[in-house]
Amino acid sequence: MKYRRVKGCYDLYPHAEEQWRDPLMWNLIEGAARSVSLAFALSEIRTPAFEYTDVFLRTVGASSDIVSKEMYTFEDRAGRSISLRPEITAPVLRAFIENSLHQSGKTRLFYIGSCWRYDRAQKGRYRQFSQFGIELIGSHDATVDVEAITCLLEFYRTLGLKGTKLLINSIGDLDVRHKFGEALREYFTPHKENLSEDSKRRLFENPLRIIDSKDECDRKVSQNAPTITEFLTTQQKEHFAYVCETLDESGIIYEISPHLVRGLDYYCDTVFEVVAEGDAQAQNTLGAGGRYDGLLQQMGGPDLPGVGFATGIERVIQHLLKQEDAKLQEVPEFFFIGLNEMCKRKLLPFVTDFRRKKKASILHHGSNQLKKALSAADKSGAQYAVILGESELEKGIVKVKNLISREEEEISFNRLCEISQEFEKQHGR
Ligand code: HAM
Repeated sequence: MKYRRVKGCYDLYPHAEEQWRDPLMWNLIEGAARSVSLAFALSEIRTPAFEYTDVFLRTVGASSDIVSKEMYTFEDRAGRSISLRPEITAPVLRAFIENSLHQSGKTRLFYIGSCWRYDRAQKGRYRQFSQFGIELIGSHDATVDVEAITCLLEFYRTLGLKGTKLLINSIGDLDVRHKFGEALREYFTPHKENLSEDSKRRLFENPLRIIDSKDECDRKVSQNAPTITEFLTTQQKEHFAYVCETLDESGIIYEISPHLVRGLDYYCDTVFEVVAEGDAQAQNTLGAGGRYDGLLQQMGGPDLPGVGFATGIERVIQHLLKQEDAKLQEVPEFFFIGLNEMCKRKLLPFVTDFRRKKKASILHHGSNQLKKALSAADKSGAQYAVILGESELEKGIVKVKNLISREEEEISFNRLCEISQEFEKQHGR
């Protein structure tokens, strides 16, 4: 019998056939997420993979696609309804309340973790996927909306991700969405026959999802639909105008997208998405987020507003890999080659020293033939090979070969120590 992984899932393993499934890539992306989070003074939070189903029902929303069609829900042995988390905002707020994080002032949080959605499996859309996200809790200021957006864009910038577009909109509050929903129902009902099967259902359950649909027929019918902007209160319009002005002042380019409403019920006011340009597929959204004032209180916590985003790690890696100039692998800088056991032993303390100075180094353990060892060095992606053979050992020198320019020079053991000291100075330690 042959076992297979569950549909919509994937394995990560070294040198995976598809590069996005190589753990090296993931370490790189997660490293960037952590360093950007640190720069934004965010603290990490980790919550369980599953929650009581209620955590999602009244937050993400019972009528949302995520809860109604995509959640992995089951009863545990004691008959409690449990769901694998389809997103991480609601669990983070549950944990925020349960652990009284507002009292310790831990209101700026980030997370990296898996989510599960029973979605139609295809490239960029998985049943287990990973998100990097942040939640900024406690301020109504429009500046904080922009801070969340900036953090997302900084993450992409750090990775050198190009070809993205920021879309923003304001969706007001529940009252606004209720009135807007009624107007949409009125608009779409005469066109019902032209809508997709999903949208025919949405017409009664959640008409806002129709204008957000990626289905071609839905898009056509939606073209002249009313926009939510017409329903916003003066205060909501002012908040949104302030967000736009602050983005302008920060030099952030964006497009106002009046049909952007998002698929989760907890949002209010500002919502945003970053999409991959020139990729019209449904899974071109790299990251998304928005404001959720009132959600914490609704979940039984303090009356504090919040704003955040999450970005799918698989999609980010896949988009990066489409770029020709993407620099995606963590490679060693130095590849040490000892041409016999004695030479290897002599090199080992140097390797350890270089590693202490944060210079990624490998000591070659394969063939003692120079040609084969150099070919392994090339394969590793290292920048320099440090070679020690019997004759070099006698002279107290090593050969350093630049694996890109192929230039070679001889340097003494003492000089190798000095180079290592210089690395230390560079690190300021
Ligand atoms: P979301 O739009 O549902 O928002 O998901 C955020 C990102 O997760 C998407 O933009 C996409 O990159 C990725 N994603 C979603 N579903 C899949 C899937 N099936 N396969 C691969 N990637 C996927 C949220 O989850 C909100 N909690 C974001 C947020 C945080 N809002 C405020 N704070």
